[in-house]
Amino acid sequence: MDYYTLGKTGLRVSRLALGTMTFGEDWGWGAEESAAREIFDKYLAAGGNFIDTADMYTNGNSEKMLGQFVKESGSRDRVVIATKFSYNAQPGNPNAGGNGRKNIMRAVEGSLQRLGTDYIDLYILHTWDSVTPAEEVMRTLDDLVSSGKVRHVALSDAPAWYVSQAQTLAKERHLEPISTVQLEYSLVERNIEFEYVPMAKTLGCGVMVWSPLASGLLSGKYKPSEAGAEGSGRLATLAGSDNPAFNKFTERNWKIVAELEKVAKEMDRSMAQIAVNWVVNRPGVASVLVGATKLYQLEDNLKALAFELPKELQQRLDEVSKPDSRFPYTFFEPSLQGMIHGGSSVGDKPEGYEQPVFIPGKEEESTEDKAA
Ligand SMILES: NC(=O)c1ccc[n+]([C@@H]2O[C@H](COP(=O)([O-])OP(=O)(O)OC[C@H]3O[C@@H](n4cnc5c(N)ncnc54)[C@H](OP(=O)(O)O)[C@@H]3O)[C@@H](O)[C@H]2O)c1
Repeated sequence: MDYYTLGKTGLRVSRLALGTMTFGEDWGWGAEESAAREIFDKYLAAGGNFIDTADMYTNGNSEKMLGQFVKESGSRDRVVIATKFSYNAQPGNPNAGGNGRKNIMRAVEGSLQRLGTDYIDLYILHTWDSVTPAEEVMRTLDDLVSSGKVRHVALSDAPAWYVSQAQTLAKERHLEPISTVQLEYSLVERNIEFEYVPMAKTLGCGVMVWSPLASGLLSGKYKPSEAGAEGSGRLATLAGSDNPAFNKFTERNWKIVAELEKVAKEMDRSMAQIAVNWVVNRPGVASVLVGATKLYQLEDNLKALAFELPKELQQRLDEVSKPDSRFPYTFFEPSLQGMIHGGSSVGDKPEGYEQPVFIPGKEEESTEDKAA
């Protein structure tokens, strides 16, 4: 297992992080306790150290199980625990959710208690609440770092303008900066490439990827059928959900799955391994969260770093999954940029120079990016 530093911090984390949204059966598509324990033990034995949960996962049971497994394995010093706040714990009470100071202070105490620890390594705003000013969030998170309850901070599922504002405030006001942005990214969901990847690179944040298999779709376990799809697992259980994260049975996605299947056969690897390998190696990606309900799935996914995807196969996957061009990003593509720069190339500097801007379609990382 390789370890990378998390954003611009000194914290070293595994490239494959373990997601624990599936720890607990409360939501109808998770793993019961003994299966979750096996998954946790296997991840640690493989050298993994980065584990993600949230206060709302399986109604608090994910945090409780994780805390118990860490305690039983005596691994608290070794593991890096990430957890999240935002979702409401008391219907009818608007201040028992959201990203305001009152809720963050309430939520952190609950997470510490369920995890059975006195500090959280990475505390993550789970989802933008559309009301709390970035100043309030960053100041509160900074207070938690000063108090010792939290080591590093992150934002997930927030608009790019909001993350940029929060990071700029943090830097200008000498508050704890955002180390990481946690976002959905996979062969079927590449929207973050337009705004978030260049944002993260510019602001010095790592991208921590969630749902690299699109909730299991990219493992190849689902097939298109007249009724919509065949196959069992989370996406079948949640069919018809109005959450886009679980609505993956589309014509476009089946084409991507079909090409992925061909590539996996050519590589003699599972589809899941190819899909995880593809996303791990995308520009800006620091860590990828793998999730599992069964031990064999984690064992499969952990092999995703053991090979290199030949350029030609990678390009086939890039091509079939390429997101449609959209305004205003069309103006930043090389053809239109050429009209601005008089035909001379942008960003091609001798080795050692930092590439100044991110140019869509020109995604090779500079030497400096790789070192970071
Ligand atoms: N910040 C956020 O908003 C956010 C949102 C979602 C997730 N997350 C985090 O990201 C983590 C990972 O997300 P995810 O669970 O959606 O990841 P994912 O890799 O897209 O999906 C994992 C699911 O796919 C199936 N699967 C995994 N490996 C497989 C394999 N090798 N073969 C066949 N099926 C396989 C399993 O579900 P079945 O057995 O049911 O098929 C497993 O639970 C979560 O645990 C959580 O920590 C964060």
